[in-house]
Amino acid sequence: MRKGILTIAAVGLLATGGLTACSDDSGTGSADSKKTPKIGVILPDSKSSPRWETADRRFLEEAFKAAGVQSDIQNAQNDKTAFQTIADQMITGGVTVLMIVNLDSGTGKAVLDKAQSQGVATIDYDRLTLGGSAQYYVSFDNETVGKLQGEGLSKCLTDKGVKNPVVAYLNGSPTDNNATLFKAGYDSVLKPKFDSKEYTKGPDDAVPGWDGPTAATIFEQQLTATKGKIDGVLAANDTLGNAAISILKKNKINGKVPVTGQDASVEGLQNILAGDQCMTVYKAVREEAKAAADLAIALAKGEKKDTGQTVKDPEGGRDVPSVLLTPKAIYKDNVKDVIADGYATKEQVCTGAYAKFCAEAGIS
Ligand code: BGC
Repeated sequence: MRKGILTIAAVGLLATGGLTACSDDSGTGSADSKKTPKIGVILPDSKSSPRWETADRRFLEEAFKAAGVQSDIQNAQNDKTAFQTIADQMITGGVTVLMIVNLDSGTGKAVLDKAQSQGVATIDYDRLTLGGSAQYYVSFDNETVGKLQGEGLSKCLTDKGVKNPVVAYLNGSPTDNNATLFKAGYDSVLKPKFDSKEYTKGPDDAVPGWDGPTAATIFEQQLTATKGKIDGVLAANDTLGNAAISILKKNKINGKVPVTGQDASVEGLQNILAGDQCMTVYKAVREEAKAAADLAIALAKGEKKDTGQTVKDPEGGRDVPSVLLTPKAIYKDNVKDVIADGYATKEQVCTGAYAKFCAEAGIS
């Protein structure tokens, strides 16, 4: 085992331009401390959620800049081949740490393994790569995200006084481990209600690639299949929630059927203020980016940090050192908290017709 690790470290040294044998590489697979730290980040796309370009990029840049390290943040735009090409270019270009948000575990693993074989340290950012080899995983407690969604939908159905509601699911991408965790979370709240017949389980579909237009098509089919009898929609993020709302609007039943979300996107917050969306889940991406940047910087310096927590990779069986942050449920009355936190601005949210709703919700 130890021999294997040393071999990997040696390959890393060769591949990165013949640093001398006196390098103090500790044999942990971490980046070489003698190299100038440079951190490569690959974001997944810019459509499945606005967060990647509007929040993650901004906050990662902010954290790297504050630490004075070089970085290269790119977006694979939902293209797995591009994802691999970007990774190859980053590795060849001399990044010391590679941070990825995988598009699926297969390509994610290939990229992580390659980086490791070249002596580049790795971090799974937001999404765990199943069977992967990342040294750290930084995310939110994703099962809790789902639990907040399940509780949120349940609260909104109670508030509307709906008896024996039919609940439809629009789950996240089947290739995203987070989508599995979100579902485990909302199932933990809703399944007991289906089992006791308090609620009725409606259609349950995953949305490939978290794609909004696909979600709208799926939701329209769900409504047709149930002859319009859907009383609540568990949508796994604001993009999917907005897709459902667009179809509810078409059928003039928006606002009557509670819809959940996630990411506290400007669109999601506006839908909540307008009464078309029940809730969203706010994840303070600034903290996530900061935690990931701190670990990346430590790895770039060849240091090891104890995160005090691990997550079990169900496929690889590894206990991956992790940082998991706490998500927060957002309803109409605390949309203002997201604005106060600097995640969205009043100027972005309270435009046009939303100005009135903002005033009602105490956003001044
Ligand atoms: C992230 C969510 C995001 C979704 C779609 C998930 O892995 O955790 O915040 O909405 O991907 O991009």
